[in-house]
Amino acid sequence: MQQKNTKEVLEKARREGYAVGAFNPHNLETIKAILLASEELRAPVIIQIGQKMINRYGMEESVNVIKAIGKSIDATVSIHLDHGNSIEQAESAIHSGFQSVMYDGSHLSIEENVKNTKKVIEIAKAHGIPVEGEIGQIPGVEDEVHVSEDEASITTLEEAIEFVNLTNIDFFAFSIGTAHGVYTKEPYIHFDRLREIAGVVSHPLVLHGGSGISDEMIRKSISLGIAKINVDTDLRLKFKESITKSITENSYGHLTDLLDQAVYDVKEKVKEKIILFGSENQV
Ligand code: 13P
Repeated sequence: MQQKNTKEVLEKARREGYAVGAFNPHNLETIKAILLASEELRAPVIIQIGQKMINRYGMEESVNVIKAIGKSIDATVSIHLDHGNSIEQAESAIHSGFQSVMYDGSHLSIEENVKNTKKVIEIAKAHGIPVEGEIGQIPGVEDEVHVSEDEASITTLEEAIEFVNLTNIDFFAFSIGTAHGVYTKEPYIHFDRLREIAGVVSHPLVLHGGSGISDEMIRKSISLGIAKINVDTDLRLKFKESITKSITENSYGHLTDLLDQAVYDVKEKVKEKIILFGSENQV
């Protein structure tokens, strides 16, 4: 496994018109599935560590597990902190060997968000680590981040310009209608807003809530400038479906066999996403 600077990976993607999948693992099997998919399709992948992984395994331990599993897999990976909840947590990820960090201050006022994001950037820059920032709260539940429909808001062009100019963030996440988790109705993505923002922000743009979106909407988002697509829910659902099927079909089956089957099924799901995002053979 080789580790790559996330900024290099995403700037190439934005320049060349494809997106890199940023996948959230939750255990050894999902880590292995993401790495194998990268190897099989010669695709760069981002493994993003969220709050649940951090609480369960620890920050440095998560990096060590990825490295240990990756030893025998020829994958190209950037390890990223997803929804970093404090300046201290982002700093800790930087010292734990992550290739990039997200600081999520989207629940704060713009002033406060800008202030904290700049602080994270200052610390990260000293270590050559790029930073993802966000404005406009994205609805749904992502690990420990809960945002109701009422709290969510579509990012305005003015907010986007202000935030990017004041912080000079490396990757920019904002709210355009996607949500974390399972959709109860077809999402309405504000493509006009994405087009406007992409017209003035040349940094790689990030789409959160990348599960459950139609292939057509994903392709359109990429054509308008999205370079990083976050996918968590679709992998979790695939893992659970696989385990359930194995147990239903053979309740006396060996644990190792059902976990191997889950690795295979999640890997195929990751490969589907990589092909859709256009990042196959981009190593
Ligand atoms: P989904 O769970 O909807 O795929 O969103 C993942 C995400 O945006 C992680 O930050």
